[in-house]
Amino acid sequence: MKIAIVEDDINMRKSLEIAMAEYPHFEVHTFKNPKDALKKLDESFELIISDINMPGMDGIEFAKTLAGKYEIIFITGNATLSKAIESIQLGVKDFLLKPFEIETLVAAIERSATVQKKAKKAAPKCTLKSGSFLGTSPALEKLLSYIHKAARTDASILLLGESGVGKEVFACHIHEKSSRFDKPFIAINMAAIPENLIESELFGFEKGSFTDAIETKIGQFELASGGTLFLDEIAEMPYSLQAKLLRVLQEREIRRLGSSKSIKIDVRIICATNANLQQNIQDGKFREDLYYRLNTIPLIIPPLRERREEILSIATSVLGQNCIQYNFCSKSFNDEAKAALQLYTWPGNIRELISVVERAAILSDGDCIGVSDLFLEARGFGRI
Ligand SMILES: Nc1ncnc2c1ncn2[C@@H]1O[C@H](COP(=O)(O)OP(=O)(O)OP(=O)(O)O)[C@@H](O)[C@H]1O
Ligand SMILES: [Mg+2]
Repeated sequence: MKIAIVEDDINMRKSLEIAMAEYPHFEVHTFKNPKDALKKLDESFELIISDINMPGMDGIEFAKTLAGKYEIIFITGNATLSKAIESIQLGVKDFLLKPFEIETLVAAIERSATVQKKAKKAAPKCTLKSGSFLGTSPALEKLLSYIHKAARTDASILLLGESGVGKEVFACHIHEKSSRFDKPFIAINMAAIPENLIESELFGFEKGSFTDAIETKIGQFELASGGTLFLDEIAEMPYSLQAKLLRVLQEREIRRLGSSKSIKIDVRIICATNANLQQNIQDGKFREDLYYRLNTIPLIIPPLRERREEILSIATSVLGQNCIQYNFCSKSFNDEAKAALQLYTWPGNIRELISVVERAAILSDGDCIGVSDLFLEARGFGRI
């Protein structure tokens, strides 16, 4: 971990340098004033430990110049309450009063590093493996052409479609085709998070902001910084939070719960729902102003039964993947099975198709999959 120490007092600077040399996992660089540090600071530094009272630029000015780009710990000989408050407002992680034991400083460093590590660990990438995107029908090709145009911009996208049509897959695809492809892609399902936790999940909270807030939590908006935030099942977002989301999207900044500091965010928003949002607006469940903000580019993903021409190619490709995955000799569908696959209505769309094919691959005898291996009757599919 690369750390910058900014301290004008030569004795303090040298003694910190010597003491920190005992901790080889810290790579420490010392500077006698903020101006020298600013010349050398780059992205490889993870933490700054700075004195407050220094001639020229003081620690507070220094922290303001850094504008939240680094974690900061202040070390000071004369702490005043106003300085402490100002530091907290600037997002400074810790405030140590000189003289302090080196272990106290190391503990403070470790605390800040934990927050950082958590932030990194919780920032997953898009799960879609490149080349695994399936779909060749004219309806899908048209959709993909819109997607590729929209991906180049930061415009909000609303993905609409039945369950299992691939809304999350498309969201991933948009992210991968955008200039944000190497930054986090974070998906949050509004229906999967208890209503009272959605706000802190999205915006995070400061340590101590409520009884259970034993440490600072970074919200998904911050974790997705530079990347894409996919808000799935957006219709499930509590009404009370919808106004807050709208404000965040308009002002492009968030505030962690319990903090008065605004944090700039650079996040592309993609939302998805299988609900009828216009109906929800009429029923007073969804804010119309938020709807217009999210709906810059609405993309409707057609259900599988409206793109029947691609059912067989998807089924064959999934079957091939299953045979490799389970170490089976290659299998294929007979004509009757192919006809059934094409005639069935697929209410569960691609998700259902994938599961039907996987089960057939596992339960069928030999290398030929017949209609009975598909078990479509159990799903209400009549005789053909
Ligand atoms: N075009 C596609 N190519 C490859 N896999 C796909 C495609 N579309 C969907 N899938 C697969 O189908 C399943 C369902 O897709 P996904 O979760 O994106 O659907 P969804 O529209 O978000 O559904 P829900 O509304 O139920 O959340 C996933 O396993 C996904 O990998
Ligand atoms: Mg989904």
